[in-house]
Amino acid sequence: MTEAALKLGVNVDHVATLRQARGTDYPSVVEAALACEAAGAHGITIHLREDRRHIQDADVYAVRKQIGTRLNLEMANHPEIVEIALDVGPDEVCLVPEKREELTTEGGLDVAGTMDSLLGPVQRMRESGIMVSMFIDPDPDQIQASATIGAPCIELHTGAFCDLPPAERGTELERLVAGARQAHELGLQVNAGHGLNLDNLSGIFDVPYMDTLNIGHSIVSHAVMVGMPAAVTAMLAAMEPYTGGRA
Ligand code: PXP
Repeated sequence: MTEAALKLGVNVDHVATLRQARGTDYPSVVEAALACEAAGAHGITIHLREDRRHIQDADVYAVRKQIGTRLNLEMANHPEIVEIALDVGPDEVCLVPEKREELTTEGGLDVAGTMDSLLGPVQRMRESGIMVSMFIDPDPDQIQASATIGAPCIELHTGAFCDLPPAERGTELERLVAGARQAHELGLQVNAGHGLNLDNLSGIFDVPYMDTLNIGHSIVSHAVMVGMPAAVTAMLAAMEPYTGGRA
């Protein structure tokens, strides 16, 4: 890579997943975001879904208020969420497709097929100073359509690449490389994300013009594992008077 330094946006949605699973007020999404920033993350990503399965409206406002890096709000092109985005004023919005039954964002947004409904919201958000990004598959028509509706940025969906065994990733990598080149020629910022982890990450370094990688699930999962010894140690310390000195 010869371009500007690659940046990391950390998606903290699944900190909220853990909290929502028990209806507690912890773990704190804001604390997690601040910990990511303290560790060097260049930005924080959260996805306010229509079904509110993890991030809640209050999280969006709280994260916006507390973080010092960039806030990237992932969202569907839904009128209610568009109004929230305009009210919150994230640095970036990434428009994604959303289906209630999906486990995560499956496939990119059909920008080419939904241009009429995207035009107005994209324009309003851009006018309010938000950088609008389209989460799309590395498909030439979708990249062209993103430029046509005036989005300054795309995020290439890396899910298909990540889901394949390493030896079979060649074609998907070629699509990502071609997509990044096309987007760059159209003057678009190129981000990427979905399914990236410490094992598959290096393949993405062959894709040119990458500005930011947005990574969530694998980082939150890793955090649980590396944090487990400290969490158990703290609990044993709290039990210490009654554990016979085994803490
Ligand atoms: N980028 C977008 C647009 C997403 O929807 C997601 C998942 O919320 C991610 C990146 C992060 O994906 P993962 O959690 O698999 O790292």
